[in-house]
Amino acid sequence: MAPCNPARPEPGLRLCALAEIADPGAKGFRFRRDSGLFAGVVVRRGDLLAGYVDVCPHAGWPLAAFDDRFLTRNGAHILCSGHGALFELADGACVAGPCVGARLTPWAITLRHGDVFTA
Ligand code: FES
Repeated sequence: MAPCNPARPEPGLRLCALAEIADPGAKGFRFRRDSGLFAGVVVRRGDLLAGYVDVCPHAGWPLAAFDDRFLTRNGAHILCSGHGALFELADGACVAGPCVGARLTPWAITLRHGDVFTA
C-alpha cells in the first residue's frame, strides 16, 4: 500500500463546477501541505466523470505538460506528455505506450448538484 500523502484533500472538498470542465475535457488540481504535493485530474466525456492521481505509472511524471491538456485531441484517451502513453478515460488502463497493462491510480470524486467534490 502506498504511503499516505498528507497533501491529499479530505473527502467532501468542492473541486469545481462540472461546467468548468470541457466535454470532452479534463481539469487538473494541485494541493500542497507542508512539503507534500497531491496532484489529481478529473476527466469528463458525456456521462463519464472520473478522477485519477496525476502521476503516470511509467516514470512517475505528471500527465500534462500544459494547463489542462490531459486528453488526446479527439478526447478519446488521457495522454501522458512524457512518453506518449494513452489511458482509457473510464478506468485509467494504459492501452498504448511504454506502460501498457499498468493503470492510473483512481482518485475518488463525486458529482453533487452540478459540482464536483472529492469523495
Ligand atoms: S512518464 Fe508517462 S509515458 Fe513516460
